Amino acid sequence: MEFSVFFNKKKEKFYFKIHLNSNQTIMRQKIVAGNWKMNLTKEEAQSLTSEIVGINNDELGTNQQDVKLILCPPFIHISTIKSLFKSTKNIYLGAQNIASQDKGAYTGEISAEMLSSYQVEYVIIGHSERRQYFEETNQEIAQKIDLTLSKNMLPIFCCGETLELRKKGNHIDFIKNQISESLFHLSNSDFEKVVIAYEPIWAIGTGKTASSQQAQEMHAEIRKHIASKFGQQIADQTSILYGGSCKPNNAKEIFACPDVDGGLIGGAALKSRDFVEIAKSF
Ligand code: 13P
Repeated sequence: MEFSVFFNKKKEKFYFKIHLNSNQTIMRQKIVAGNWKMNLTKEEAQSLTSEIVGINNDELGTNQQDVKLILCPPFIHISTIKSLFKSTKNIYLGAQNIASQDKGAYTGEISAEMLSSYQVEYVIIGHSERRQYFEETNQEIAQKIDLTLSKNMLPIFCCGETLELRKKGNHIDFIKNQISESLFHLSNSDFEKVVIAYEPIWAIGTGKTASSQQAQEMHAEIRKHIASKFGQQIADQTSILYGGSCKPNNAKEIFACPDVDGGLIGGAALKSRDFVEIAKSF
């Protein structure tokens, strides 16, 4: 049996994974992360956070403490919502993006150092909306991964294919290439800090979710690909989340897949009840 404990720079316990080799039972960190995208005013963000913290404390509290919730608001709400977490243990703060440069004359950008100074713990990197609308490349995403890790924050790396690629049967190779080009330069110890989110583009915001078979197939392929580079043990410990129209009514089926370790949630993360119900779906 092996235990891995990671510490952030304040030496607080950061995350914890258990790997039982003897009987092939593997427990990975379960995560439900809410990507709020470009939504909510300050007041709306405050209400949503307070509601999530309240429902979480009442309902997830004791028996589901092993599920981590990560709230990823727009940058401008980060300090406001962090102050509402209070002493809640299983809720973490994430950002939706990060600059690919360290610092300097990049008007409008937000650096890793700035996010870290606000105690941001996770950063979503390479979301398909950033790839599509802001033309982020796998190489730029690799730089963002490095900057995030350099400030002791944990990347949530997004990958996902278009419907066109899936129809042509190229979806698996495409995802493998996204992963290789943005993550395979990492050391084993850095890769262990990465969370992967598989988000098929055709399922994002469309109400059309991947079937559990499609999700399981891709998650298993992703894990195999990770194992080919970083070894089976690290692959077995990596949390791989599903994203794309994940809702309370389909989360249970998707989370039951052996290689799905949680979700990256868009629309349903804007409703406190829906978000917590999804987190209760393991
Ligand atoms: P939806 O849940 O709204 O489909 O969004 C998924 C997503 O893009 C999360 O990052």
